[in-house]
Amino acid sequence: MRIVVLTGAGISAESGVPTFRGKEGLWRKYDPRDLATPEAFRRDPKVVWEWYNWRREMIAKAQPSEAHRILAELERRRDLRIITQNVDGLHQRAGSKKVIELHGNIWRVRCVICRVRYYDERVPLEDLPPKCKECGGLLRPDVVWFGETLPQEELEEAYRLSSEADIFLVIGTSAQVYPAAELPFVAKRSGARVIEINPEETPVTPYADLSIRKGATEGLREVLDQL
Ligand code: APR
Repeated sequence: MRIVVLTGAGISAESGVPTFRGKEGLWRKYDPRDLATPEAFRRDPKVVWEWYNWRREMIAKAQPSEAHRILAELERRRDLRIITQNVDGLHQRAGSKKVIELHGNIWRVRCVICRVRYYDERVPLEDLPPKCKECGGLLRPDVVWFGETLPQEELEEAYRLSSEADIFLVIGTSAQVYPAAELPFVAKRSGARVIEINPEETPVTPYADLSIRKGATEGLREVLDQL
């Protein structure tokens, strides 16, 4: 039985990492156009890096939630793959090995000049904006910003997995950002049993075979016997 899981910021909310659109949402405090866009970075890379330094510091202090750990444990016992929109790396820190990151990873940097990418987990990064260790060029966070295309390989793999899933779990996403938000519908059309876990309703809710109005950990515990 192939289980595919799509996660969003909600699964990390239980680790204390604020979501984007909830009442405590990150975007509430900042205009995304000022921070998570190529234009903002071109305009003032230092300001964008200050925001990312702050987010990296917050994520470094966070621990994987019980929900992250349940998924890591399930991966060891079942045919389970995780597709995440999150860039925090908490699935991997919980022990998950096969994680598809659709929106990149906040711990990886990418040089805008020579395109090299590598992990740099120093908190905080000094001398902003940081420079490439290979060519001295300008480094950016290796994450997908608004208006940018997703990594092609990861996206194709995510579509393939979603179309082959027997059970498709949607945990902690408002399902408003495409193309990630299309994956539950790809799974549904392909005959998967779609189970949503989210304290709030989302556009996926009417199509889910089961939609649990609970948090990630509580909701996962409730469906474990069905997986
Ligand atoms: N457990 C499960 N879900 C939760 C919890 C919780 N404890 N707390 C909040 N949620 C739900 C909210 O109800 C909301 O539906 O998590 C969802 C978070 O939605 P968003 O903040 O929109 O996050 P996400 O769906 O991951 O955003 C997608 O948008 O900003 C871009 O690139 C960014 O990856 C992000 C993408």
